[in-house]
Amino acid sequence: MKGVQSVGSRTVAITPSAPDTSATPAKRMTGPHCGVAVTPAAAEGVVNRLMAAGCVAAEEEADELLAGASDQATLDTWLRRREQGEPLAWITGVLRFCGQTLHVVPGLYVPRIQSEELACRAAGLLPDNGRAVDFCTGVGAVAAHLTTRVPTAKIIGIDIDVRAAVCARRNSVQALVADLDQPLRCNRVFDVVTAVAPYVPTSELRLLPADVQRYEPRVALDGGEDGLELVRRIVAAAGRLLHPGGWLLIELGGTQDQALASALAASGFDRPEPWWDEDGDLRGLAAHVTASEPDL
Ligand SMILES: C[S@@+](CC[C@H](N)C(=O)[O-])C[C@H]1O[C@@H](n2cnc3c(N)ncnc32)[C@H](O)[C@@H]1O
Repeated sequence: MKGVQSVGSRTVAITPSAPDTSATPAKRMTGPHCGVAVTPAAAEGVVNRLMAAGCVAAEEEADELLAGASDQATLDTWLRRREQGEPLAWITGVLRFCGQTLHVVPGLYVPRIQSEELACRAAGLLPDNGRAVDFCTGVGAVAAHLTTRVPTAKIIGIDIDVRAAVCARRNSVQALVADLDQPLRCNRVFDVVTAVAPYVPTSELRLLPADVQRYEPRVALDGGEDGLELVRRIVAAAGRLLHPGGWLLIELGGTQDQALASALAASGFDRPEPWWDEDGDLRGLAAHVTASEPDL
């Protein structure tokens, strides 16, 4: 895992595990409200306050706050919350992911822009009328994208946090509250399994940006000693749930693709295909179930 670096006055993660997208909105928003009318000078004042608070994308964030706040009092409250470091999406209640506006509520992990790659790859592997399960669905970002891209498919999102499942349902995801695959009894019926699970090693949580540590739930971040405790369980579950030819897509960081190789082979996966971002950081891995079935 790669630790953190300083950008401006705000610390921004360069670990693939939890970059501070709360400080860097994925894209400009069209808020659900008509927005508060302000003079150009007042709008500039909002930008300046955000910059002074260390926001690296102050202009974009100002646009979002101005577009989303229904009146001046709301704008003032929102600005104060953002200055304290609270994730922008918790404040505005919305976030763009893969071109779609999603509901987000305080207390839940904010979907990261780098997870869009996983969602797009998974959508390309999910056939019409296919079946997919999105473990650790959170607010349902990946599952919502699969639903939009392959509307004939049956997609289930699962999260252990009831608040996440409720939010995912608001985002039109059929979401269950459960510990990973516990409610899924049918073997070899899924075409695609996706997971953006917690994968930060416990000892590296302290390296995450201060705002992430302060606000986002530990259950969404802590992957145990080597970061792969939940991921290994997901690999084993996917080996059981996917039919031969099905695909697992999972978000990873650092050198976790290598650490996961033996678990993937033991669960019947071949041809693991990691992918990296433009900076050369590992972002995820796709693995294919071999035609011959592994021993269960
Ligand atoms: C890193 S967040 C990712 C959320 C979502 N996939 C996304 O990309 O926005 C991890 C999620 O895993 C959930 N989670 C943690 N342990 C879990 C478990 N044992 N079973 C199901 N979900 C779990 C957390 O509640 C959290 O919502």
